[in-house]
Amino acid sequence: MSKFSLSTPIYYVNDRPHIGTAYTTLIADSIARYRRMKGDEVFFLTGTDENSQKNLEAAEKRGFTDLKKYLDEMAAAWQTAWDTLGLTHDAFIRTTENRHLVGVKKFFDLIHKKGDVYKSTYEGYYCDGCEAFITESDLVDGKCPVHNKTSRIIAEENYFFRLTNYRDALLEHIEKHPEFIQPQSRRNEIVSYIKDFMKDVSISRQKKTAHCGIDFPLDADQVIYVWFDALINYLSALGYGSDEKLFKKWWPMDLHIVGKDILKFHAALWPAMLMSAGFPLPKAVFAHGFFTVNGEKMSKSLGNVVDPVELVQLYPLDAVRYFLLSEIKFGEDGDFSLTRLKERYESEIANTLGNLVHRALSMTEQYCDSRVPPASGASEGLDPLCEIDIWRAYNEYMDSYRFQEAVRVVWGVIRGANQFIEQEKPWSLYKENKIQRLNDVLYNVLETLRQVGWFLLPLMPDTAEKMWQGLGLDPALEKAQSLELAQVWGRLKPRTKINKGGPLFPKEK
Ligand code: ME8
Ligand code: MG
Repeated sequence: MSKFSLSTPIYYVNDRPHIGTAYTTLIADSIARYRRMKGDEVFFLTGTDENSQKNLEAAEKRGFTDLKKYLDEMAAAWQTAWDTLGLTHDAFIRTTENRHLVGVKKFFDLIHKKGDVYKSTYEGYYCDGCEAFITESDLVDGKCPVHNKTSRIIAEENYFFRLTNYRDALLEHIEKHPEFIQPQSRRNEIVSYIKDFMKDVSISRQKKTAHCGIDFPLDADQVIYVWFDALINYLSALGYGSDEKLFKKWWPMDLHIVGKDILKFHAALWPAMLMSAGFPLPKAVFAHGFFTVNGEKMSKSLGNVVDPVELVQLYPLDAVRYFLLSEIKFGEDGDFSLTRLKERYESEIANTLGNLVHRALSMTEQYCDSRVPPASGASEGLDPLCEIDIWRAYNEYMDSYRFQEAVRVVWGVIRGANQFIEQEKPWSLYKENKIQRLNDVLYNVLETLRQVGWFLLPLMPDTAEKMWQGLGLDPALEKAQSLELAQVWGRLKPRTKINKGGPLFPKEK
């Protein structure tokens, strides 16, 4: 059995989840489900980044005097939101947990012993939104382009990590492992940063200016810089410092999924930290693009923040998953709009998929006494609607995180099945008493639905199970099969009693 481990960023809890953080996490969930479907043992990690000034400020704004209380409340809110979205993460790490503190301390000792920590004065720009020291070259009109805020200049005595010691090693690694930074289009930007701009980074902040964080091991007046501690979550959540067996099993991770805003931290700082400490590097970092909402940057001040939990009150969860997976090419920027979601829900989901399932089951009920008809295999012109090369394309796209294309392949099959019904007109075959042809046609459609259920399992998991239930299959038994067997045409047994049920997708909600 193969193993696959993947992570999302750990999110700041200065606010609740929004459509951006939900996007990252839902995609990670689809990858995790796909890997499980292929038979891999999976470790899917997410969590919350809790040692940030941003959280402290948010707590103060909301009138909390006890930061821990605020963090507990928010971490719980994130966990509840992810449960509402049906996410299947295997672990949730909070960076205020003891297991994390232990891991951070242990990791720090390694890079310190290596001689990669020194004291110096930092003077430069700091963006509070990014929680990052930034260089002049990052600024656009004197502002951080991500947060559109004027950056502060700060000067403090801090401890530094010798990031520049790893310049050559990083460049060599990226060169030797073209899959390390994905999509490819992002690699150059990181390479040029490492070559031309990367400096040593401060990994501590003075307590005078940073009022929360993990105590800095070498100096009681300093705390660990939040990004330095946050990145180590990928180790501590796997048991580094607390459960070595688990850690050995899962590190290095196969995939870190991040937004493009934090790729530098994951593709330069993080691998350099790991090199310093003597750990193998994660296999890949995939940076996806950013959403705007109706063409505008999503921001609290514009009041256009989309709440994913509210969204799934308006549309079925699977419709939201479908939309997010296929509206934007994974890796590129895009726009989120409720109008588009409504349009695509009605046409592609309710009409195209919902209608296929509904008519296939209704005809089976009406013409075949609610039982899967036997296929003679003799009818001319009736190739299976879903063939092995379709599976090949689907797997290839899913393996390379091209969800938009995977969805296109699946919808090609669904549209094909609808057209096939139009062409063959089972209602006429029934009237004309061409029963063998009718049985062959319906069997072809029903078996296609069984296979479409498999395609949809990682993308629209509830829908997949409902489709199988409609066909009279037990989802647990269906899922227990290997994917190889599932792909074999003809696994749906004739005489199976179907359960027509209501429409899969209500037209208006
Ligand atoms: O950066 N479109 O946390 P964060 C798409 N704590 N994705 C978006 C998005 C948008 N408009 N806005 C946010 C942090 N995201 C650190 C991470 S990891 C060791 C520490 C997603 O709460 C995207 O994944 O600011 C982005 O990278 C992440 O949220 C940033 O979340
Ligand atoms: Mg952010």
